[in-house]
Amino acid sequence: MPTFTFSTQSPASVKADVLVLPVYEGPEPGPGVRDVKGIDLIGLYRAAGYKGKRGETLLVPNTGIEGLNASAVVLAGVGKRSDARPDACRRAMGRVARQVSRRVRVATTMPQIAPRAFDEAVQATAEGILLGSYRFDRYKSKSDGDKQALKEVILLGGAKADARTAKAALERGQVIAESQSWARDLVNTPALDLPPAELAREAQAMAKRMGLKSKVWTEAELKKGGFGGILGVGQGSSRPPRLIELSYDGGGKGAPIALTGKGIAFDSGGLSIKPAEGMEHMKMDMGGAASILATMRAIALLKPRVNVIAAIPSSENMPSGSAIRPGDVLKHRGGKTSEVLNTDAEGRLVLADSLAYLAEKKPRVIIDTATLTGACMVALGDEVWGAMGNDRGLIRDILAAGDAAGEPGWELPMYEPYRKLIDSDVADIKNIGKRYGGAITAAMFLREFVGDIPWVHLDIAGPAFSERVGDYWPKGATGIPVRTLVRYVLDEAGTRRR
Ligand code: BES
Ligand code: ZN
Ligand code: MN
Repeated sequence: MPTFTFSTQSPASVKADVLVLPVYEGPEPGPGVRDVKGIDLIGLYRAAGYKGKRGETLLVPNTGIEGLNASAVVLAGVGKRSDARPDACRRAMGRVARQVSRRVRVATTMPQIAPRAFDEAVQATAEGILLGSYRFDRYKSKSDGDKQALKEVILLGGAKADARTAKAALERGQVIAESQSWARDLVNTPALDLPPAELAREAQAMAKRMGLKSKVWTEAELKKGGFGGILGVGQGSSRPPRLIELSYDGGGKGAPIALTGKGIAFDSGGLSIKPAEGMEHMKMDMGGAASILATMRAIALLKPRVNVIAAIPSSENMPSGSAIRPGDVLKHRGGKTSEVLNTDAEGRLVLADSLAYLAEKKPRVIIDTATLTGACMVALGDEVWGAMGNDRGLIRDILAAGDAAGEPGWELPMYEPYRKLIDSDVADIKNIGKRYGGAITAAMFLREFVGDIPWVHLDIAGPAFSERVGDYWPKGATGIPVRTLVRYVLDEAGTRRR
């Protein structure tokens, strides 16, 4: 992790290996570009054929440029000046992050493109450089020469901001990006190396380091506790299920915020097995769980004045002689039963238990995140998560948090006539509806287990994992929606703007 500092030095005089300067669409010079007087930077940028679109990056080495102290300038397209909000900082910084993180000392004026939201821009800039330089190379036996050298990031123009709030924003950006990167690591790790027990060990190690309370339920304990969904889904695997409980005590008044996330170590589909093509992606089916663990990590470090509890179910969905069969009935925590008509609709079966368990604790709200349905991906594509719930205010708040964090979601309707699609002939409820409206019937299944607690479900099947490189993420896990969840919790505690 590099250290971040603010500086009031002028861009031309700052001593750095690389100076990152924004260029608006046009191209028009962004903050700091005109400060470099020994060379016509915008002229060069235009001559290279660039217009200032995001991703249009020009490196100008300092071959004796008069008055310039940095060894090189990177001109980074940030898009339209009128769109220059904090998310533009995150995205533009993410685009150059890989290149500049090979240098030791980097300076930038990036947050200045959004001066009216300076603190947010500072946070987003830090997130952009850290998330954008994220790599998952643990399984490469030799390095591809793309070694990170970054030690120091200097944010220029700090004098403009209230130093205290800008510092806090910077810390938030670092903690959140680091936590989100950890979520990515967990999701990118092959399922072979991350069975439920190992995920639980990772969670407990994190909890210990961060000062969170934790408890991991073993298979025997789950049996005693009546967690038939978690056990049923996991019984086809040689690697037994777990329930991971974490709690953060921030000295908050009133009931805690409760979080849960789908933690399927690998989703083969079980006996209702998936096609071979694309099955390798199903190591990501614990993306919900990873996002909750990472959120708890960030909360432990940022210490908002609110209490948060998490209960994360983890099972592996495998076909075998001991696997559950279509037609089987499972009894969930709290006593409700479900008829399993498709063993590939397993996420809702494990979440039913964790939601029922959390509802017993009478939290103020419950939020779950889950790579739950292909149907949600069909509806919203691969960058937008779906939100469904039983409480208007909570849905509004989580969507607002997602927008502010640059992780957009969109609400799908809990259209009541669809509820009958999950009526079962033999049990309280069945685990599939019709093909159409699959994201909604899945959410309606979950709703059965939260009682009257305000609850929102985030279906992250699309955005949890990316098959292409994005502005600040490589192929693979994105760590979505960690920024959204952390922001929601901080907003609830009312500490975000302190
Ligand atoms: N984990 C999958 C959903 C998924 C699909 C996540 C693609 C990410 C990418 C989930 O367990 C599943 O298999 N859902 C089924 C439900 C169906 C059987 C009712 C689906 O969406 O097809
Ligand atoms: Zn699944
Ligand atoms: Mn499945």
